[in-house]
Parts: sequence; structure tokens; C-alpha cells
Amino acid sequence: MQVRLTSDAPLGVRTGALVLPIFSDGAEEVAKDVDEALGGTIAEALASGEFKGKLGESMMVHAKDHAFRRVLAVGLGERAKFEPMLLARYAGAAVRYLGRRNIADIAILLPPQARGLETAAASFVAEGAIAATFETSVYQEKPEKKVAVDTVSIVASGFDLAALERGLARGTILGEAVNFARRLAITPANDMTPTHLADEATKMAKDNGLEIDVLDEARARKEGMGSFLSVAAGSIQPPKFIVIRYNGDPSSKELLGLVGKGITFDTGGISIKPADRMEEMKYDMSGGAAVIAAMGAIAKLKPKINVIGIVPATENMPGGKATKPGDIVKAMNGKTIEVINTDAEGRLILADGLCYARKAGVTKLVDTATLTGACVIALGHAAAALVSNNDEFANQFLGAAKSTGERYWQMPYYEEYSNQMKSDIADLKNTGGRAAGTLTAAAFLKAFVEDTPWLHLDVAGTAYLDTESAWQAKGPTGMPVRALVSLTETLAGTPIAGVHSNGAKAVASPA
Ligand code: BES
Ligand code: MN
Ligand code: ZN
Repeated sequence: MQVRLTSDAPLGVRTGALVLPIFSDGAEEVAKDVDEALGGTIAEALASGEFKGKLGESMMVHAKDHAFRRVLAVGLGERAKFEPMLLARYAGAAVRYLGRRNIADIAILLPPQARGLETAAASFVAEGAIAATFETSVYQEKPEKKVAVDTVSIVASGFDLAALERGLARGTILGEAVNFARRLAITPANDMTPTHLADEATKMAKDNGLEIDVLDEARARKEGMGSFLSVAAGSIQPPKFIVIRYNGDPSSKELLGLVGKGITFDTGGISIKPADRMEEMKYDMSGGAAVIAAMGAIAKLKPKINVIGIVPATENMPGGKATKPGDIVKAMNGKTIEVINTDAEGRLILADGLCYARKAGVTKLVDTATLTGACVIALGHAAAALVSNNDEFANQFLGAAKSTGERYWQMPYYEEYSNQMKSDIADLKNTGGRAAGTLTAAAFLKAFVEDTPWLHLDVAGTAYLDTESAWQAKGPTGMPVRALVSLTETLAGTPIAGVHSNGAKAVASPA
């Protein structure tokens, strides 16, 4: 899909459908002008309650005597609650409504509230429009739910063109990165093997001029990654340890590490999972997919920062050589781990991912994973859990993530959680009982991070959804790509104007 600008006046745009922003408490001036040209149909529908202007709600009106053939009124919700991020949902709802009806070319009006926030507004429209084209029917011979929109024009008259252009470029990159992560995540495990994930990462790196190194089993063994390799032991698929580097600030010694869980399928291993919903465990590489996709977006956006992306990738299978409960394995930093439950495998591969990152010299560290069922119990599908050893870094992240549309909720780290992870026979054990499952998992990871400022993002409840919305298909969400990209922009000192609400001075993105 292409998102571009048009300088045509709203009433003169030649398109399959003109999309109007409508607040639940009434239409703004531009929308009123278009509605008047239609004889006031939308105002009537608002007055009668036929159309309420709820966020993402759509109503189509045909206008065959106009340059635009149809008008789609799309709700933006309450005017007082407007924020630029909602434009992603507004544009997304329009793309899905019209695209499902086979309309290929659409034009979108911005609400006057976007004035002064053009970079953010265009970024969200582009990101939301592109993300809206993603569908689950990727393996169908004739996709049942095709979203046919291929051109979206933002009606730019009355807005700052240069700022819109900058936002458009960013939003396009972000929307495509989100869809890339979703495509990787939804691909079933018979196709999405560790080898395939590494090949996708390699292609992405080549396309974007990034350095990439894929360590095979022999090299991982040489590095001492006994914890990572213990998870791979039960699988016929060779494990891959993926390392991607972006050097955006060669004069700086600062290095941000992004470590993503790349379990391409999680059966639970010998501690095997029940059959019910086990198919969802193809999504257990969502954290890794997000890291790979975010690295691609970062390479295109070019923030002044150095980033290393690390994805330990393997299946978790119950083969004849599989790790057994009670086995003791050794991570790269020399720490020994008693494997109580082979289904707590994410932390085992992340342990070596974090060690490798530290050896590479990271000065800040983020890991992300579909790590615990307990996270889904605690926060449901409404927010991801954040655990950190550094409040300043956590607040910086929360600020950067706040306006992305992705939600994070900070949970505590207490020493008690680390005590739950002590083993009688080894340095650590990999499970700490039922109490505070998300936080004991985080406490386990913390042992491999030591003093490096660190964020742990558990996206078990948010990386994929089994409900669709007006603006988003079911299935993988692409979380946390947006927040990771936003964090790098914030750390680089160049947050996009109006996008970030971290108290940092908002500046326009570099061209
Ligand atoms: N991949 C799962 C966590 C998960 C569960 C993600 C449900 C998404 C939805 C993880 O590897 C796992 O199995 N965790 C165990 C840990 C337990 C054995 C300590 C869990 O949460 O049950
Ligand atoms: Mn598991
Ligand atoms: Zn898992």
C-alpha cells in the first residue's frame, strides 16, 4: 500500500471514497462542508442516532455525482479525548471498512485538531492505514478477507506539508515493520523454523544495510550458551542465535540491546503442555519477531544511536535428547540452572541472550517475550507487563511508549522474587512456584542482567489477540515494535513532534 499527500481541496478529490473524521459530539468544519455538499446526510444520521461517531464506527454515503464517489464517515470518539494516536485507529477503520468492500483508492481528511501536530498525525494515519491491511488469511488460495485498499491520500490542504511528509515517511516505515513482525509471528511453526526466522532476519538485514551474524549450534556451544542449547536439545530443527547490529552513532560508546524470545514453537518440552490452544504457541517467537522488525525500522529511520538486536531462536520439543526436569545447565556467564519445568524455556534462552548482549558491551538492555501465562492472568489482553531494575529508564520507556497505542503496566521487582528462584543444588532454578509467576520470571532474568539498566516486557497477553476490532485483524498485533522504535527515537534525542509525551523537548524528526 502507498500512503501519500494530496493538495486537492476536500470537495475536489478524485477518489473511490473520501473519509471524514466525525467526533461523537459533532462534526468539524471540513466535514460539515463535505456533508453539506451531500445534503446534510451525516448531520441527520448523527442527530437521529443512526451514527454515533464512536471510535472506529463507520457509515457510508454514496455520492456518485461528486469527484469522490463515496463518503465514509468514521468516528473519532469524544472531542475532548482526542490524541494523535487515535488517527491510526481512525485511518485503520476506514481502510478495513472500504478495503473489505473492494475499494482500492481512498482519501482521508484530518480533523482540525491535527494542526500543529502534523508530523504525529501523518505518522499515525500512515501506520494505522498500513497495519489495517494485514489479514489472517495468508494461507488461503483465494483470501477470504482481503483488504483491497492500495492507495491512501491524506488531504493536506490547510496543514503544514513538510511536517506531514516527515510523519508520512515515519508512519509508513513503522506500519510496514509492524506488519513484518505480524507476518513472521503468524507463520506456522512447520514453515517458521529457527532456520527460516534467521533467513528472514538475514534478508531484512541485507535490505537495510545492517550487520548480521547467525550463530549455529557449534558456535553457540563455543560461547558457552548451555542454557539456550538445553532448550534446543529436544528438537530436530537446528537452533539459531541471531545477532543484528545498527551503528547509528559510531562516536558513542552507548549501546542499546534488544533481546527477543524466538521460540518458534513451544510444546512445553518434557513438561508438555495440554493440547487445548497449544497451536497458539507458534506465536512464541513474537518477541523475537518484534526485535527483528524494529531493527529494520530503526535502520530506515536512522536515529543517532547504536543498537544490537539479539534473537535466540529454537523450538521447545520433547525429543529423545530433550532436557529433563531436574537437569542442570550452565549459562554463558557461568551460572548453573536447575531446570524444574522444561516449559519455562523462554527465560532459559533469554538468559544467554542477555549474557551475550552484556558481553557485546550494552549500556542499556531491553528484553521482550511471550514469557508467562501469569501475565495474561494479571493484565489480560489490555496491557503488557514491564519490570525494570532502573526507574529512570522505566519512566523514559513509559514516556516513549505512552502515545504509541501500545500499553505497558509496570510491576515491581522485589528481592523475595529472586529468593523464590534459588535452587538447593544449582545457582538458580527456572521456576519459582505459582505465586507472582510474571515477576519470578523477571527475577530470574535479572540475575543475567546484573547492574545494566534493564527493561523486561512480557507480551504474553498482547502479542496476539483472538478478537478483531474495526482497525485491526485478529491474530498477531506487532507488539512491541512501536514502543521499541519509539524508545530508540527518545534515547537518540529525536522523538517525533507530538508523538512522544516523555517530557523531553519534542523536535521534528531529522529529514
Ligand atoms: N510461552 C509460554 C507462556 C505463554 C503462555 C505465552 C500462554 C502466551 C500464552 C511460556 O514458555 C510458558 O510456558 N510459561 C510457563 C512458565 C511456568 C512453567 C513457570 C507458564 O506460564 O505456564
Ligand atoms: Mn513454555
Ligand atoms: Zn514459551
